[in-house]
Amino acid sequence: MKVTLSLIKADVGSVGGHTEPTPDMMQAAKDAVNKAINDGLLIDGLVTHTGDDIALLMSHTHGTDNKEVHQFAWNTFLKATDLANECGCYGAGQDLLADAPSSNVRGAGPGVAEIEFDFNRKEPRPAETFLCFFADKCGPGAFNLPLYLAFADPMYCAGLMLPKMQKGFTFEIADMNYTGEGEKIITLHAPEDLYKIAVLLRDNELYGIKSIYARNYDEQCVSASTDRLHSIAGKYTGKDDPVAIIRTQGIFPAPEEVLSPLAKAHYVGGGTRGSHNMPLMPVPINTAITGIYCLPIISCLGFSLTPQAKFSSFYVDFFDNPTWDLVRINAQKKALEMRSQGWSGPAMLPYSELEYGGFKDIVTELEGKFEIKPSKK
Ligand code: 13P
Ligand code: MG
Ligand code: MG
Repeated sequence: MKVTLSLIKADVGSVGGHTEPTPDMMQAAKDAVNKAINDGLLIDGLVTHTGDDIALLMSHTHGTDNKEVHQFAWNTFLKATDLANECGCYGAGQDLLADAPSSNVRGAGPGVAEIEFDFNRKEPRPAETFLCFFADKCGPGAFNLPLYLAFADPMYCAGLMLPKMQKGFTFEIADMNYTGEGEKIITLHAPEDLYKIAVLLRDNELYGIKSIYARNYDEQCVSASTDRLHSIAGKYTGKDDPVAIIRTQGIFPAPEEVLSPLAKAHYVGGGTRGSHNMPLMPVPINTAITGIYCLPIISCLGFSLTPQAKFSSFYVDFFDNPTWDLVRINAQKKALEMRSQGWSGPAMLPYSELEYGGFKDIVTELEGKFEIKPSKK
């Protein structure tokens, strides 16, 4: 059978700032998912939160961009928004940027990652294992460096040297600031296009990885959200806070190969007001944002699919483990170091990013007050 994994995440309100949703909001989302399973729309589902974002992870047979599944996610976020409003939460309905999307929720605010694949439990995929990444207080470009290293650099993924993966991977990269009809995508192949891929991915604010395919088997292994909320709303309404689904093992990198680049706690755009460069700290799922200047966080759950495509009753929370403690301490040190220079230079994002917030008006006003002084002869 063909199975689709859909991971859809949105911030629809949080307690005492951009921290975490209320227990009532989480329960409402869980109840809705359980009902959708009983009604037969979904095979299985799991509701989690990462900082202030609620994520719905679902398995079903309806394919990607399916209207019913996406409408279900949207309506679930609306229910949680009502509860956020009742509790006086901050940013109730924040990421629901459209009035009511007519079909799928892409381009309407929530982050979406989806993969459909043949689930036949035969070679080359006798078992289906996959990771889900959930990030808060950062943009989709946060995935650029770790995914490049995991799928294109044998220093991080030794599996790339083996026959099953030697042919490499195909990267679909999105121009995330494109606002026209459809999506603006370039397709590049590792290893021959490695340097070109790096040229694009170095700009975390502009280009983001949308999907990755194994070239040996023509199988999609990565789907990541590339929506930028400021491109949708035309102004700053909150950070994009991306999600990704990554199929692992066998013909794809192993979980530990995908995770190893995250030990860097690399600097990404985000943090407070989405305007800073801050390190990405790995944390357990369902962690609230209480860190230094909204330190960006990422969680990772690992799953196996049962023959019935169920997954929610057992999973591994990869970062809920002392092996990541040192990385967390390093992230905090890097955060303090960057914060020590406040607004100066690389501590904040460039003006092109900040122009979606209040900075634009102030700079425009000040621009008008500059004078051209005649040069002294
Ligand atoms: P969120 O996008 O997670 O709501 O964070 C926005 C923000 O501006 C935090 O300071
Ligand atoms: Mg928020
Ligand atoms: Mg958020």
